[in-house]
Amino acid sequence: MSNQYYAEMIGTGHAVPPRILTNQDLEKIVDTSDEWIVTRTGIRERHIADKNTFASTLGTEAAKKAIEEADIRVDEIDLIVVATVTPDMPFPSTAAIIQKKLNVPKTAVMDISAGCTGYIYALSIAESYIKTGAFKTALVIGVELLSRVTDWSDRSTCVLFGDGSGAAVLRATTERKGVLGTYINGDGRLGDLLKMPGGGSMNPASEESIANRLHYLKMSGNEVFKFAVNMMGEASEKILEKTGIRKEEIGMLVPHQANVRIINATAKKLNLPPEKVYINIHRFGNTSSASIPIAVDEIRKNGKFENANPMILVAFGAGFTWGSAAISW
Ligand code: ACO
Repeated sequence: MSNQYYAEMIGTGHAVPPRILTNQDLEKIVDTSDEWIVTRTGIRERHIADKNTFASTLGTEAAKKAIEEADIRVDEIDLIVVATVTPDMPFPSTAAIIQKKLNVPKTAVMDISAGCTGYIYALSIAESYIKTGAFKTALVIGVELLSRVTDWSDRSTCVLFGDGSGAAVLRATTERKGVLGTYINGDGRLGDLLKMPGGGSMNPASEESIANRLHYLKMSGNEVFKFAVNMMGEASEKILEKTGIRKEEIGMLVPHQANVRIINATAKKLNLPPEKVYINIHRFGNTSSASIPIAVDEIRKNGKFENANPMILVAFGAGFTWGSAAISW
């Protein structure tokens, strides 16, 4: 009989650029106020990368910390999955660039584009390979430099996003721990609500695409908000169903940090008290596919780890996509 494997999270790390952009700084750029941003989103500040920092820079930094904590050699890594919508360039993949920077010898490398749900998708891919026994050790990274595709003249989006990266090393174990299950879903019919139209085969870079500001993120915030609350609710329910975890057994809900009102609505659906809901959006803004792995690393490092068992990760994002994962220690 073949073994049943689980993907244990044996190391995590995160990295954010040092420069902080506060709401007060934004008041000088667009017609907004600290009061509006805090009450409508929960965000107070975010980290913004300088021009010499790329997705691979932050991704490599987070990965090095995860590898160090996992205490593995880089030649043990069988798979690198990077979730990002802001890769260094369309190709080669940011996973391949990070592989080179980490000096990982030949191994499987891929990027995954699922917006803010990217990390959950990446986790699900790594978990699936590990579960089947195809791979033993995977490096999963969520990294985003949304500041590079933010229209800094659009107050309805530029106040929301920040840059950052989070990473985890997953290792096959026969004990029932680590990733207990993942759930992913998507609905392309909602794609127009959140997109960056320029830079692909439909609207390659041209004078016209630049003049029409197609290389910036466009979002119908209000509509996204409504779908997000339902998707976060559905994804949370599905992962509990799939893993048999009851609401009252949740150690910590780790939601994608898009808007504190979306997080609170999700927590309410699950009847969770505030101490069981991880929130760091006030310090980082929405870092898209990096928000959940940054949060997971902070929880592991700040001593709340033991009480956070099991963690329920839940996200929604461009695509539309949504998904969830349950992790135990
Ligand atoms: N400062 C001041 N006023 C503003 C700002 C701002 N930064 N932005 C918008 N407003 C104004 C609007 O112009 C509008 O004014 P009006 O009534 O005179 O027209 C008013 O505030 C209300 O605007 P709404 O868009 O209705 O505000 P809402 O409460 O929906 O909040 C927000 C907007 C924060 C964007 C919210 O809709 C939201 O969080 N949506 C979800 C976004 C999201 O989570 N995206 C995640 C995916 S990201 C990814 O996958 C890459």
